[in-house]
Amino acid sequence: MKIVSSLADLRTARLSLDGTVGLVPTMGYLHEGHLSLVRQARAENQHVIVSIFVNPTQFGPKEDLSNYPRDLERDLSLLRPLGVDMVWTPSAEVMYPSGYQTWVEVEALTNPLEGAMRPGHFRGVTTIVAKLFNATQPHKAYFGQKDAQQAAVIRRMTVDLNFPLEVVVCPTMREADGLAMSSRNKYLNEAERKAATVLFRSLNAARDLYEGGERDGEKIRAKMKELIADEPLAQMQYVSCADYDSLEELDAIKGKALLSMAVFIGKTRLIDNFVLG
Ligand code: PAJ
Repeated sequence: MKIVSSLADLRTARLSLDGTVGLVPTMGYLHEGHLSLVRQARAENQHVIVSIFVNPTQFGPKEDLSNYPRDLERDLSLLRPLGVDMVWTPSAEVMYPSGYQTWVEVEALTNPLEGAMRPGHFRGVTTIVAKLFNATQPHKAYFGQKDAQQAAVIRRMTVDLNFPLEVVVCPTMREADGLAMSSRNKYLNEAERKAATVLFRSLNAARDLYEGGERDGEKIRAKMKELIADEPLAQMQYVSCADYDSLEELDAIKGKALLSMAVFIGKTRLIDNFVLG
């Protein structure tokens, strides 16, 4: 497993890879969710590149960039047994050298949900992912359904900018009690960790309603809000029942829908989602 930091070393190492390449972009502090993407990439490509870069431009001024958990040695030891060919760990200076001024923006799809709560977030995500795609030239790139809007935005960008690669979206990995795995779960204390199951519980309650025949988007949103309100350590930021493709809020569910939410558990902001239909 080759570990490279500079762009020059990345390019040299990339040129030495013959055949198909799968890319798994990450911000590190890896967990089973990330590793499931790596395993799928390993199964579907001759070579696998994992990037680890805590991308400063996707964090808002009041977000957790400086506290974001980092442990490169642990990450590398998790990746070694998975047959990863190369790990790219660029510095902020490599990705955004002084004078940097070029950005990639996806429009309508980034307006609601995470985009509404985190202004500038997706501009940072699409810019860095475009740069990762350009530098590593993958045939396939792997993203998690956990970040449903991110996956949709990256798929859109890939089509719109004619990147010659396939975006693969992999299922959300969860803890035994249903909590979606996230590097940010590390911030939760014991009581908060218990309270954090409210996201999964409320998504399940909403899906039960849907499976019982409910198609009123507002009733489904109300159900999720009710459960979150019942959890003293939880503070809802948004809940959504939206069209799967446009991400616009639905009055009546007809085709595929995305249930999603952002909830503060103490100071920690968690997101989760289910797809209906
Ligand atoms: P990060 O949060 O490190 O996540 C890296 C990838 O792992 C993303 O595609 C994310 O959706 C996926 N992932 C996270 N938790 C998961 C889980 N429980 N199950 C399945 N997949 C999961 O997302 C980012 O980094 C960044 O925005 C990035 C795309 C790397 C750009 O900086």
